[in-house]
Amino acid sequence: MIQTKENKMKGIILAGGSGSRLYPITKIYSKQLTLIYDKPLIYYPLSILMLGGIRELLIVSNEETIPLYEKLFGDGSQIGLSIEYVVQAAPNGIAEAFILGEKFIGDESVTLILGDNIFYGDLSFFYNALERQIGATIFGYQVSDPERYGIVEFNENGKAVSIEEKPAKPKSQFAVPGLYIFDNKVVGISKNLTPSARGELEITDVNRQYMEMDELHVEKISRGVAWLDTGTPEALLQASNFFGVIEDRQGLKVACIEEIALYKEFIDKQQFEKLVYSIPNSLYRDYLDKILNELDEQSIKTL
Ligand code: DAU
Repeated sequence: MIQTKENKMKGIILAGGSGSRLYPITKIYSKQLTLIYDKPLIYYPLSILMLGGIRELLIVSNEETIPLYEKLFGDGSQIGLSIEYVVQAAPNGIAEAFILGEKFIGDESVTLILGDNIFYGDLSFFYNALERQIGATIFGYQVSDPERYGIVEFNENGKAVSIEEKPAKPKSQFAVPGLYIFDNKVVGISKNLTPSARGELEITDVNRQYMEMDELHVEKISRGVAWLDTGTPEALLQASNFFGVIEDRQGLKVACIEEIALYKEFIDKQQFEKLVYSIPNSLYRDYLDKILNELDEQSIKTL
């Protein structure tokens, strides 16, 4: 059983964007629906929020893709979630998610994950950060190509002293992944942002404001955790191969949201059974069937 306590925090998955880099598939829908090995890309960030115990979710995407997400997840109740949807009319920047999500967030804190960010490994860096009540927590992950990301610089005491979006001359190798935990102040901060030179409400500007208020916590993610890129066809292929190898080796699926819902006790055995029976015959269903049979065997043993 995966242990994290239930969380009141709200979760947003930002899953729109222009996606021009992955044309032509993005002519039809946003890239977060592309297949990573055996399931859509968005399952991976969704599963991170679920593992963190976050059950109230908002999916932000473009007009074309929202109906597809609705088809995929519905209201989320079948996996013990509550999922709402909101359209982002144009990719006006990551921080716009907090403006579009203002009503959804209400008075709570919020975790934002980018729908194309994949994390794999020991997630205690995330679980620990969720315990923090005040300020913002972001993460630092060492990369070989820092000019492609938001970059955080630390002083000798490990405190964040600068944060820059895609700097031409990066001051460190630590990229800020697309997973951010904010207290409720993020809504007001986002509403007061001015668009950057590229015309976007930048998440890096939000983080910098928390840094200036001395309320930004930056936790380094250890090298044992994989944070995968999904920005190019090659990166998508690599991610598919990565999960193909792991799933094949272990006989366990990564980011199987039905399995996570069961083990986190978002749904009980009966709901799980109903869910499995609603899935058409497929390798995915075979996997869930196997879990169901194991549950039956366990309950027979305890009779
Ligand atoms: O992946 C981590 C990086 O994500 C951070 O290090 C950067 O600080 C952050 O700005 C962001 O950089 P990207 O260049 O990857 O951002 P991109 O514009 O590609 O957007 C990330 C995802 O969010 C992408 O799947 C599309 C989606 N998106 C983006 C924007 C700007 C939206 O749905 N709406 C938007 O308005």
